[in-house]
Amino acid sequence: MANGQTTMTIKKLIFAALLSGFALSVAAADQTAAPAASTTAAAAPAPAPEKPGLGTQYTDKGADTCLMCHVEGGDFPVFAIFKTPMGNPAVKGSPFAPGNLQCEACHGPGAKHAGTGDKNFINTFEADSFLTPQQRNKFCLACHQGGARMAWQGSVHQRNNLACTDCHKIHAEHDPVLTKATQPDVCYKCHKQQRMDFSKPSAHPVRFGEMTCTDCHSPHGSDNDFLLKKPTVNQLCYTCHAEKRGPFLWEHAPVAENCTLCHSPHGTVRPTLLKKSPPLLCQQCHSVNNDHANLAYTGAQLPGGSAGVSRYLLAGSCLNCHSQIHGSNSPAGDKLMR
Ligand code: HEC
Ligand code: HEC
Ligand code: HEC
Ligand code: HEC
Ligand code: HEC
Ligand code: HEC
Ligand code: HEC
Ligand code: HEC
Ligand code: HEC
Ligand code: HEC
Repeated sequence: MANGQTTMTIKKLIFAALLSGFALSVAAADQTAAPAASTTAAAAPAPAPEKPGLGTQYTDKGADTCLMCHVEGGDFPVFAIFKTPMGNPAVKGSPFAPGNLQCEACHGPGAKHAGTGDKNFINTFEADSFLTPQQRNKFCLACHQGGARMAWQGSVHQRNNLACTDCHKIHAEHDPVLTKATQPDVCYKCHKQQRMDFSKPSAHPVRFGEMTCTDCHSPHGSDNDFLLKKPTVNQLCYTCHAEKRGPFLWEHAPVAENCTLCHSPHGTVRPTLLKKSPPLLCQQCHSVNNDHANLAYTGAQLPGGSAGVSRYLLAGSCLNCHSQIHGSNSPAGDKLMR
């Protein structure tokens, strides 16, 4: 009985405080709303308006305090976090592990917010927050500085002021960015060109959920160009297309140099991810005047001579003869034909 009364009193106190918080924000937003605001404020005299900012005091009871107002079925669903490693007290180092700050490990010292219900005193992780992305990220980096985040500082995403929460959802049973099939949509929010590329007729099978961006990229930063997972484009491609690595008796110079001289890594309108179709593809480099390489459509110019062979130039074009375009191991393969 006594216990119940105490709880009631606490709830009332908080409720009163909450109301005064609302009164304050209403008054600040619209001076003409003063009559309504002042009746409520009369019960609990409003302190002078304060600038938004994190409080310095943590709540005494942590999550228990927060969850008095942020209940299941409330305006802001928060309970899904308890189905993730970060909401699990048994996971070492998690915000809910014994002795850790629970909700306030991420949202910052929350006593002032808990006393007012005013979002101007809590880290909301929202884009309109009074905290900069870097300030918001600090809460996450306090626990996640190492591992994949080693290269975060100075990375292209960090320099462009991305927040961890531009990609991550915390109060969700499954963070979409961690799942192969749903990750691309998170990236496409900002990378619209890539969404287009991956829906072209020839593309890596990202659209079908068989591959994803992080098969090739490290979104938290890497020492390599374009956030690639490997130091060079070719090393990256070889991880899955090992047969293109060789060694070949007869190498084709551009293949050993960079696959993207001919292929787009994402998608194209031409077959096999080619950036251009042969003969144009080849003629970007093989353009010596009067050589058959440069005069593809005139059969007469081809080795062997007659106009009759020009049909070999249809469709596969140069590849009808130079089929070993990635390199050859035949003793007679110096022209990449066998
Ligand atoms: C007295 C009730 C109350 C308590 C206790 C409380 N909150 Fe709130 N909280 C609110 C209300 C009301 C809002 C909505 C404020 C608004 O929209 O202006 C809110 C908003 C928030 C938001 C921002 C939501 C958004 O996106 O606008 C966060 C984050 C938050 N609370 C976290 C916490 C945490 C963490 C705790 C515990 C330290 C806590 N709250 C304790 C009432 C409370
Ligand atoms: C690991 C960090 C972390 C912890 C721990 C955490 N939150 Fe959050 N919270 C976030 C982030 C990030 C967001 C932004 C929305 C999202 O990612 O789901 C958020 C959003 C919210 C919101 C606004 C939700 C909305 O839909 O806009 C509320 C309210 C909130 N948290 C309350 C809590 C409460 C209460 C707890 C403790 C039970 C808690 N949070 C624990 C990181 C955390
Ligand atoms: C108090 C320490 C702590 C804080 C603060 C914290 N985390 Fe975590 N986080 C952990 C631990 C521990 C795990 C579980 C082990 C692991 O996967 O590293 C985890 C797991 C994760 C995971 C993997 C979840 C999964 O389902 O596998 C993501 C993503 C993550 N955290 C992002 C964040 C983001 C974003 C923030 C800031 C909003 C944040 N964390 C704040 C400790 C923390
Ligand atoms: C550009 C989007 C993006 C941003 C920004 C981002 N992440 Fe991630 N994060 C991912 C993706 C994608 C994965 C899954 C990685 C994978 O599958 O290889 C991931 C995985 C994680 C994981 C779990 C796996 C691991 O590597 O330990 C943690 C923890 C994590 N991120 C923390 C953070 C923190 C902290 C920040 C902010 C400093 C952050 N992330 C910013 C996209 C992002
Ligand atoms: C098969 C590996 C691979 C996959 C999968 C992949 N990328 Fe890339 N991406 C690359 C390579 C290689 C480059 C370097 C581009 C170049 O050299 O032309 C690149 C470049 C980029 C760039 C820089 C701009 C540009 O287009 O050159 C962005 C942005 C990008 N990728 C985003 C994404 C996103 C988003 C996804 C997932 C939807 C994704 N990538 C999937 C390999 C890949
Ligand atoms: C909130 C917006 C945003 C999201 C979400 C986002 N990015 Fe980015 N990303 C950027 C910005 C801004 C840049 C730098 C400017 C540019 O190159 O477009 C960038 C650059 C890149 C680059 C090129 C790096 C370079 O060196 O040129 C790659 C690759 C990339 N992002 C991959 C990803 C992947 C993969 C994801 C999803 C896991 C992702 N991004 C999610 C905003 C975003
Ligand atoms: C993570 C594994 C992986 C990586 C890394 C990778 N690929 Fe692929 N690649 C695939 C898969 C899977 C397919 C689809 C195979 C299929 O459909 O049979 C494919 C198909 C292709 C195709 C043929 C497309 C077609 O229409 O037949 C080309 C060309 C290609 N990749 C080039 C590259 C290049 C260039 C790189 C480096 C930038 C690269 N790949 C990196 C897995 C990968
Ligand atoms: C000089 C241009 C050129 C370069 C450079 C190049 N390719 Fe290709 N690639 C082609 C052409 C042309 C085709 C189409 C072959 C066909 O239709 O028979 C092709 C087809 C492919 C295919 C699909 C068919 C097959 O042979 O398996 C893959 C996979 C592939 N390339 C991967 C790569 C990788 C990986 C690299 C870098 C190590 C690379 N390519 C560099 C021109 C090139
Ligand atoms: C990015 C430039 C580039 C592209 C594109 C390119 N090549 Fe090459 N190719 C070279 C270079 C460089 C050599 C080496 C030349 C040398 O050794 O004199 C070479 C060598 C060759 C050789 C052997 C030449 C010899 O003298 O032994 C053949 C055949 C060849 N390429 C055919 C093709 C065909 C067919 C295509 C189109 C599918 C193509 N190349 C696309 C740059 C390119
Ligand atoms: C009908 C078969 C055939 C077609 C089609 C063909 N080639 Fe050739 N190519 C050859 C033969 C045979 C040689 C070797 C010629 C020699 O040894 O004199 C050769 C040699 C080459 C060489 C080495 C330099 C030279 O002139 O000896 C290059 C480069 C080359 N071809 C590029 C191309 C390109 C680019 C195309 C498409 C525009 C193409 N070829 C189409 C049969 C063909």
